[in-house]
Amino acid sequence: MPERLKVATVVGARPNFVKVAPLHHAIEAHNALGVAPLIDHVIIHTGQHYDDAMSAQFFRQFSLPRPQHHLDVGSGTHAEQTGTTMIRLEPVLAGLSPCWVVVVGDVNAALAGAITAKKLNLRVAHIEAGLRSNDWEMPEEINRVLTDRICDLLMTTSEFADANLRAEGTSPSRIVRVGNIMIDSLVKFLPTAETIPPERILGCNPGDDFVLLTLHRPSNVDSESQLRAIMTALVEIASELPVVFPVHPRTKQALERVGAVMQPGIWFAAPLGYVEMLALQNRARVIITDSGGIQEEAMMLGVPCVTLRTTTERPETLKVHGGTSRLATLTVDGIVASFREARGESRRRVSLPMWDGHTAGRIVAALVTHS
Ligand code: UD1
Repeated sequence: MPERLKVATVVGARPNFVKVAPLHHAIEAHNALGVAPLIDHVIIHTGQHYDDAMSAQFFRQFSLPRPQHHLDVGSGTHAEQTGTTMIRLEPVLAGLSPCWVVVVGDVNAALAGAITAKKLNLRVAHIEAGLRSNDWEMPEEINRVLTDRICDLLMTTSEFADANLRAEGTSPSRIVRVGNIMIDSLVKFLPTAETIPPERILGCNPGDDFVLLTLHRPSNVDSESQLRAIMTALVEIASELPVVFPVHPRTKQALERVGAVMQPGIWFAAPLGYVEMLALQNRARVIITDSGGIQEEAMMLGVPCVTLRTTTERPETLKVHGGTSRLATLTVDGIVASFREARGESRRRVSLPMWDGHTAGRIVAALVTHS
């Protein structure tokens, strides 16, 4: 085993930051013990997300250092974003020559990082491996499958993910179940989030019972007819409970394109920081979302949830598997019916093996053991 271990983590988009923060702090805790090998952790930011609200505020809230390398890739088509990331990442990784390259989740940064690193003959570990929606129209599904196919170490969240990998013929020696690193952030920040009242986040009080909505999947917002159906359903839902809606930049552009206007009962907000979002999730009566991470957070908080999708790569979040969510039929009536069903349910905290706040420590141990 080497005296020092260099680990380079590639991040690009908002959900990555929630996951790299616990990893970085677990590496610091490991180094504080003074036991070999000490780990040099290098964070490489591709620049896929670049607004303060989508990126820098997360580095501040999570006390993450500034990334040592910033590739400034920015927005673009999938080919532009993935290709530019690879071109700019290659000399950085070649210069660093790390023992491990770590990629996270299913965003373009993960696929670009994995391909670039493997072609440099570097060893790559994938955090959140094995998730499958089996929906090949999702860009993330392509990223998940291709990333897992070439990574050396596949760190998984649950038995569902392990089973997906095994069914694809992955050698069990490449699979390590570590749990869900995003829940490490939830466990750490929930006590703070519990002290923040919604009115401090939103400027006024939406009331004791409100719906929290997030929406950003291309299948929901880039299709004008689908977005109109969702907005029509929301007007009906908002006549029953106020809807708090922090708007993702992709969704803001889509709403502007369809000429969406303010509606009574719908509280539009700018993208929020992690702690503010967690505070609202924790207080919400119902969460309606198309985000994979928020489905998982809703389940851990026990909040009834409606998943605005026809598939999910996170089946454990569904009620049929003990979670708190359901897939909505994506029509006006289907969405409203799912909301009413969720509204009729009470809060129910769920616990899953290794979704316990200690996943980052298990990841550090796996990187050291497999070096
Ligand atoms: C990306 C991820 C998605 C993840 C989501 C979280 C991929 C394929 N998609 O989708 O899996 O759930 O991030 O947010 O990697 N924009 C800004 N400011 C920013 C970033 C983006 O205004 O800081 C705008 C740009 O107009 C851009 C659009 O948002 O074109 C979409 O951003 P992009 O990163 O391409 O995809 P997301 O929808 O954010």
